Amino acid sequence: MGYPHPSHPRETPVLSKYFGDAAARTLTGWQARGGYETLREALATDPVEVQNVVKDSGLRGRGGAGFPTGVKWSFMKPDGKTHYLCINADESEPGTFKDRELMRWTPHQLVEGTAIAAHAIYAETAYIYIRGEYTEPIARVSEAVREAYAAGILGANAMGSGKRVDVHVHKGAGAYICGEETALMNSLEGGSSRRFRRWQACLQNPPPSTTSRRSARRRMCSGMEPSGTSRSPIPQTPRAQARNCSPSVATSPGRATTKSAWDSR
Ligand SMILES: Cc1cc2nc3c(=O)[nH]c(=O)nc-3n(C[C@H](O)[C@H](O)[C@H](O)COP(=O)(O)O)c2cc1C
Repeated sequence: MGYPHPSHPRETPVLSKYFGDAAARTLTGWQARGGYETLREALATDPVEVQNVVKDSGLRGRGGAGFPTGVKWSFMKPDGKTHYLCINADESEPGTFKDRELMRWTPHQLVEGTAIAAHAIYAETAYIYIRGEYTEPIARVSEAVREAYAAGILGANAMGSGKRVDVHVHKGAGAYICGEETALMNSLEGGSSRRFRRWQACLQNPPPSTTSRRSARRRMCSGMEPSGTSRSPIPQTPRAQARNCSPSVATSPGRATTKSAWDSR
């Protein structure tokens, strides 16, 4: 990715293009580099169109599974329900620092991407969950969000589009497991003493983008399997049943199952 070393001659930095360029961190610096023009365009475009552009680009998730991003977004329909977008910047994998550098050098790039993704999935509210130890990235992204609100880029009438886009920065709980999506959302939701959500991972499939976490959890905890499989129900400890959440992630049988297998339920 070049910085702090010179790029390889055969390398074309894209996301890391402005690493080392401190002026790109500010709103004015980001706009001077063409920032937020894509958001303006996206907000004026139908979400399905945005999904198709991302599908055609071949962009894949960087969280490990490499799932096609546009396909993931296309699972979200305008169904009248409130949608939320959650950005996973927990990044606790040893030796992994791509998110840290993206947030340190180009926080507005993340804010812009967040707003585009929110629009594409019919969400008005997004949470950026950042690893708690990432003090500098948290400060940079928080400042970028503040600047974006002050400039009317975020908020009730984002860039004058009439669309609402709210972005919240959330400081992570400081556990590696919180990078796993269900644990992350449990950690984010927290909760009252009546229903306290620990940062604990649940067996789940399909990804939370395609269904509610509760229904995914209910399926797995009730031992239901994707249709067409012959596996026996998943044994649950009484405690896991009470919590309605399995204590184990590694044994999740459904992680690689396609959406279509689950759709028929
Ligand atoms: C133990 C564990 C830790 C994870 N940590 C992260 C993480 O720090 N950052 C991340 O983006 N995904 C992490 N993931 C993957 C997420 O569960 C999820 O698949 C990913 O955020 C989806 O994002 P993507 O669409 O960019 O791939 C982790 C998964 C597991 C099982």
